[in-house]
Amino acid sequence: MIDLQHRSNTSVPFDIVERVRAQYEQFPYPRYPLLAKPFWQDGVGGSSLFSRTLMHKNHLLFATGQDTLILGCGDMQPYIFSCLEPKGARVFGIDLSRSSIKRANFRLKANFRKAYLMVGDLDSYLVSGSPYNFSHIDAFGVLHHLVNPGQTIAAIYERLAPGGTLRVMIYNAKARSWIREIAKIFCLLGYDYRYKQDLRQARQLLVLAKKHYHLLAQHLASMGKSLLTNDSRFIDAFFHEREVHLSYTSWLSHFAKTGFLHLGFFDRYGELDHLANPLWQPPASATMEALIDQGLFRGNFELYFAKPGGEKQAGSSRLFASLRPPRLWFTFPETASLSWPKQLFIWQKYQKRLSSFCIDDPKSFPPMPLASWQRLARLGAVMPGEGTWQDKLLAPIAKEAPLYESPVKTKTVSDDLRVFIENRLQKLAITTLERRRDLIFARLSRL
Ligand SMILES: C[S@@+](CC[C@H](N)C(=O)[O-])C[C@H]1O[C@@H](n2cnc3c(N)ncnc32)[C@H](O)[C@@H]1O
Repeated sequence: MIDLQHRSNTSVPFDIVERVRAQYEQFPYPRYPLLAKPFWQDGVGGSSLFSRTLMHKNHLLFATGQDTLILGCGDMQPYIFSCLEPKGARVFGIDLSRSSIKRANFRLKANFRKAYLMVGDLDSYLVSGSPYNFSHIDAFGVLHHLVNPGQTIAAIYERLAPGGTLRVMIYNAKARSWIREIAKIFCLLGYDYRYKQDLRQARQLLVLAKKHYHLLAQHLASMGKSLLTNDSRFIDAFFHEREVHLSYTSWLSHFAKTGFLHLGFFDRYGELDHLANPLWQPPASATMEALIDQGLFRGNFELYFAKPGGEKQAGSSRLFASLRPPRLWFTFPETASLSWPKQLFIWQKYQKRLSSFCIDDPKSFPPMPLASWQRLARLGAVMPGEGTWQDKLLAPIAKEAPLYESPVKTKTVSDDLRVFIENRLQKLAITTLERRRDLIFARLSRL
């Protein structure tokens, strides 16, 4: 018999930050193999220069410094940023988890790169009167795990130099309702991520369930194979100690309240093709809310902001030199068919533009269909100046939002899944078995 009361009384900290720390201490994120060479070009949207090109486009002046801070950096981002940031810029990173920082430092050393990493709570760090002001801050996948994200956003604003930029990725809470159903089912079944056997069973349950719940299978597939094989990713999704559920509008109002200018919205999966280029003109909150409600926008929110008041004109920086372009750029139908030399040319041009802040002259590119230009502009890969190109690349590129295929809803629970759940429930030393069973089946019916 499994005594849940006893389990929850043993060594689970009460404090939210401590619980999150314990989770990432045991399961550092994303925990890809230490000796694997990360494809850092894919992280190009996080670099300070990418944000600065958006500022340049909006005729905003930059901050004078070149220090970048990664909040909740995990074990991979420090290496990626050390490759992306211009020569001479310093990269700082902070993370709650000592094991993440240890892994991040190992990766840096193994690849002869440098970054200044700290173990600690980012909220305390931001308000701790350290003398540094940063010209760029990145918070990818971390704000929604904090105690009071509104307060953190205000503190980030304070620690950014005037003319500084911020890139964030925040969960699209509504689109993640299926994850919450699964997380609650795991909780009702008494699964605890700290027990290996529980993790194994939780995974088995999902593998069984996805055979019958086709929408669940679709969602799981969209998160990639490693979700089910990588413990850190699995726990991050279904057992997280803290996940704030705020609407898009609430998040944006937190940023607007502090004084941030919203520079751009990165549409990773091309879900906003029927709107003006969101990287250049972020969509209105009401538009986003309607799309999210209708299930037409499922991606997370990848947003760029600036703190007004910079002093520096666009200058030039020495940049990374890499031969291989980010993979995302050429995965869309409009760009995948571009020849390899053209892809390479676009990437080389991009690196030049980023280092000098010049504007792309379409005449200096090899011929490409307008559709390729439009997709690349939405990804930030090209950025022509004012004039007719500007209008063409700002305009919507589809008549309506792409429709997702909606698989038929499963109404009954399959026998194998029912037996699996019954077997588990019988092992729990609880008196409210019936009630739990009903709740689990009610949640399954929502998948
Ligand atoms: C989902 S992971 C994202 C990691 C990294 N940003 C990335 O994209 O690969 C969230 C990270 O934020 C860190 N974190 C969560 N709360 C934190 C806090 N209060 N202070 C510092 N780091 C925190 C976790 O330890 C974890 O490494």
